[in-house]
Amino acid sequence: MDENPQGARVSRASGEAVRFDALTRRFGDRVAVNGLTLTVNEGEFFGFLGPNGAGKSTTIKMATGLLRPTSGSIRVFGLDPFTRPMDVKGRIGLVPEELALYERLTGFEALTFAGRLYGLDETTAKQRAMDLLAWLGLEEDGGKLIVDYSTGMKKKAALGCAVIHRPRLLFLDEPFSGIDPLALKGIKEVLQQMVREGVTVFFSSHVMELVERLCTRVAILHRGEVHAVGTLAEMRANLGLAGDATLEDVFVTAVGEPIGGEEAAWLTE
Ligand SMILES: Nc1ncnc2c1ncn2[C@@H]1O[C@H](COP(=O)(O)OP(=O)(O)OP(=O)(O)O)[C@@H](O)[C@H]1O
Ligand SMILES: [Mg+2]
Repeated sequence: MDENPQGARVSRASGEAVRFDALTRRFGDRVAVNGLTLTVNEGEFFGFLGPNGAGKSTTIKMATGLLRPTSGSIRVFGLDPFTRPMDVKGRIGLVPEELALYERLTGFEALTFAGRLYGLDETTAKQRAMDLLAWLGLEEDGGKLIVDYSTGMKKKAALGCAVIHRPRLLFLDEPFSGIDPLALKGIKEVLQQMVREGVTVFFSSHVMELVERLCTRVAILHRGEVHAVGTLAEMRANLGLAGDATLEDVFVTAVGEPIGGEEAAWLTE
């Protein structure tokens, strides 16, 4: 541990947060994830990109113990999420692609309940629930049922539930869709602060600008395989792109030509 000038704790990136070795998942004949080998170190803000159907959510579901791999292995802080599920779940948080919230609870109750599930005592769970509602801009909606929340409010509640136990590793599967710019700014700042404190964020998103701004390293998945990995500068160099190429340029080069050329020309005739 180091001390920064503000006196906050700063832990050095010291080890592996997640490691996939030859990870494969089939659904019938379809191979959703195909021999994925990838390591994410502690303290990285890691971007996980790929076109629709590339296998991102399937990978995240396996890493968080929700879906069994067909073959290959996963280690989360050195632990297998299927043989040590409780140890792994206590260290990680997840905002899944499809939210699974208890819609008949209020926001405050849902957050408190999530905290209690993670083993927090009632006082701490309630205090953190209040703090998180304020952080997320939901303080006036804490007494409202989740079922009556807007899309963005549900995303915010899910994010609160995912961090209430202070996870060391946060899986975010397209977490910001529907979240307004004002709230997004505050949420991004806190996530970056968490990363500076040594938390690892595994971030899947289609918003290239956001990934480019937030992530220290990125993997681009296509048809279940890694097509590019590294910092933006490393990926540009590996793909032979110019020094001013954007992440979008890297993405398009890594996965192939953009769709939507001539096929539907009648739309614009
Ligand atoms: N439960 C399932 N049964 C059958 N096929 C599935 C199932 N879940 C995922 N797949 C298939 O696996 C592939 C990868 O899906 P996945 O949801 O991981 O993609 P993704 O990269 O998250 O895409 P998106 O960007 O659209 O969220 C797709 O072809 C999808 O149809
Ligand atoms: Mg997905």
